[in-house]
Amino acid sequence: MGGDDIEKLTEKIAELVVNSQRCLVFSGAGISTESGIPDFRGEDGIWTKLDPEDFTIERFVASPEVRKLQWKLLAEGGLLRNVKPNAAHYAVAEMDKLGKLDCIVTQNIDNLHQLAGVQDEKVFELHGNMQYVRCLGCRKRFPMDEIVSRLATEELPECDACKGILKPDAVYFGEMLPQAVLSEASRRANLCDLCIAIGSTLIVYPAAYIPEYAYKAGAKVVIINIGPTPMDSKAAVRIEGKAGDVMTRVMHHVRNKISQ
Ligand code: APR
Repeated sequence: MGGDDIEKLTEKIAELVVNSQRCLVFSGAGISTESGIPDFRGEDGIWTKLDPEDFTIERFVASPEVRKLQWKLLAEGGLLRNVKPNAAHYAVAEMDKLGKLDCIVTQNIDNLHQLAGVQDEKVFELHGNMQYVRCLGCRKRFPMDEIVSRLATEELPECDACKGILKPDAVYFGEMLPQAVLSEASRRANLCDLCIAIGSTLIVYPAAYIPEYAYKAGAKVVIINIGPTPMDSKAAVRIEGKAGDVMTRVMHHVRNKISQ
């Protein structure tokens, strides 16, 4: 995409942000790749290396071998140890500081929007997060670090209360999404006047309903992504580019417009 095009398009997005009363940001794995976390379906995505079937709740519960492999991955530093927000997360946090963000609905489990400074109450994590581990037996919740520290001596950690199976508190394929989070995120999507989708293929449901609800409720939809999505034709602005670069340019234009 040429430099002029990207400037024109990011200026248009900034105009929509400045004129919006209720902006919902919808984020996917693509917003975190510049923090060093691979996405799932982009080039070199996680599903080109690991079998998504191993991340179905059925397989996880049925196979101690699958559970051992996943705990081993986490013990070896996992995907999310010591990762930091990138320019895209900070740009969205700046929208919040300027009073231009109603909420973030994210498919990500990396906690990076909160680390960039957006308060918990404004971040709806549809797929859970990796900060905690849940017992599938008694539902007791443990900090991830506590369980990872046990992995030096335990291949397959069990719940210390009921000996149940422990699982990272991210939503696995075949698992229900947290219903209260999904319904509040859906309600916000129906109320927003601008939905900015950043770094998602928009093909995994029910999460991908969120930008569709916004569109059907009359909101303008902006799509920032490397690669096509099924909602591209419905976008008021669709920009092919890296989230960090695009969102930094958008906020540059937003600051200029607000100071005029
Ligand atoms: N800037 C913009 N787009 C990017 C960047 C970047 N720096 N890096 C990657 N992308 C794009 C990829 O090209 C891809 O189109 O982001 C998109 C990420 O899409 P997916 O990998 O499918 O991730 P996501 O949409 O979040 O997946 C949804 O699927 O596997 C499940 O639960 C998992 O939450 C995940 C869900």
